[in-house]
Amino acid sequence: MTKPKVLVTRRWPAAVEAQLSQHFDAVLNTSDVPMTPEDFKAALASYDAVLPTVTDKIGAPALELARPQTKILANYGVGFSHIDMARVSDHGICVTNTPDVLSECTADLAMTLLLMVARRAGEGEREVREGQWTGWRPTHLVGTKVSGKTLGIIGYGRIGQQMARRAHHGFGMKIIVQNRSKVAPEVLAECGATQVDSIDDLMPLCDFVSLHCPGGPENRNLINASRLNLMRPDAFLINTARGEVIDELALSQALWFETIGGAALDVFDGEPRINPVLRDCDNLVMLPHLGSATREAREAMGFRVIDNLRDFFEGRAPRDRVN
Ligand code: DGY
Repeated sequence: MTKPKVLVTRRWPAAVEAQLSQHFDAVLNTSDVPMTPEDFKAALASYDAVLPTVTDKIGAPALELARPQTKILANYGVGFSHIDMARVSDHGICVTNTPDVLSECTADLAMTLLLMVARRAGEGEREVREGQWTGWRPTHLVGTKVSGKTLGIIGYGRIGQQMARRAHHGFGMKIIVQNRSKVAPEVLAECGATQVDSIDDLMPLCDFVSLHCPGGPENRNLINASRLNLMRPDAFLINTARGEVIDELALSQALWFETIGGAALDVFDGEPRINPVLRDCDNLVMLPHLGSATREAREAMGFRVIDNLRDFFEGRAPRDRVN
């Protein structure tokens, strides 16, 4: 039997690429150069499967073709707001993602950001590297205690729940949750969490707010000026979800005028471009989308893609189908 023709759009961990080549007629992107919409259009016309990552935009320009050859987009990543799901579904293309396997590592990174911004670790590191540190003193880079504080979690899916576990069981934090649907009482009970009805209800109650909701047009600017205004003046905002969820201009103003204590971002609207208004905010920690960036998670994500592909091409329903 001929093997399905599979296109991998970026470099993946070597162990995963080796398995892809074993199971499929796989074309790897050894140069790791991102593909253009035209490249995607050509790929969708000739490969049985295309394996995009969360930074590969598959929108109208890539999808304007009458009958794509591609039957499955096996996405490497949990978020799929970079894919125009309506158009893809119209073409009858199956889309899968890679949930579960990156939840712990992404929550670890959200906790890293929370600690960094509360304890001013970014400022301290910049000071040491720039040779500006003049020595220990009682008033130097005094931050905010994390243990025992209140953490608000917006989006209580797998990653949000992992974040709650770390914060509650590791740091004794009180957990407040906002989620589109009602969270089962036993799930809330695992971290002694309380669910509130709306983001507006959650914001004023929290010392820290961590975003774990999906991106996409429906959540664009979910955290806008009026919601930032509801935060306490010493509270911190953490984002490991998607950049578009925050109105970055409004955030920069909240940081500049210190109407909130600080923020820590792993994701940016239009990344890797960083909105210049964010660059000069000292009370802002910024990381380059490292949420799932551990060897363990990135390999597991790749193997999960392979499971989805094998299920699909061997006639089973892929476990992570999202459309
Ligand atoms: C995802 O999978 O959506 C993450 O953002 C990748 O780190």
